[in-house]
Amino acid sequence: MNWEELKEECLHCERCGLCTTRTNVVFGDGVPTAEVLLVGEGPGQHEDEQGLPFVGRSGALLDSYLHAIDLDRKKNVFIANIVKCRPPKNRDPLPEERAACLPWLREQFRLLRPKIVVCLGRIAAQQIIRSDYSVTKEHGQFVEKDGVLFMGTFHPPALLRNPNNKPVAFEDFAALREKIREICTSTY
Ligand code: URA
Repeated sequence: MNWEELKEECLHCERCGLCTTRTNVVFGDGVPTAEVLLVGEGPGQHEDEQGLPFVGRSGALLDSYLHAIDLDRKKNVFIANIVKCRPPKNRDPLPEERAACLPWLREQFRLLRPKIVVCLGRIAAQQIIRSDYSVTKEHGQFVEKDGVLFMGTFHPPALLRNPNNKPVAFEDFAALREKIREICTSTY
């Protein structure tokens, strides 16, 4: 299956109950050849309405961090989520919803073959890096698994609620820029 076929199939997904309440499936946004993959938790209201990840205020914050390190969803990064449909009232996605949705992310990962994966927030980091991952304690550290580097950082919506963490979150993105310079060949 190629990228377009995967997207087409994903946009019609009915693998869990979230398909009955969603407006749009949020497949992701960015370039399918990116070396850097960012993964959030799941769509919120604006994402559900627009069919795109990280739009609205938290998206603007994320884009500002990305632009500060010369990343841009139109040029050199791909942004996806653990679940592709909005959980009602923005509750955490249920284990069965994550389990049903994860094969889509796995296929995206398989086709992208990213060199670096950045987990945005606890839900993504605990799903992808380690089930007891602590964003507060471990953010900004790169861990290698099967030749791919994984890093967790703060969830942009959490930074809007707690702006005190913005400077440390920004440092994580600065560390990401250094890591990209070190190991990526086509990002910059
Ligand atoms: N928007 C997304 O697409 N994902 C999140 O995790 C938060 C906001």
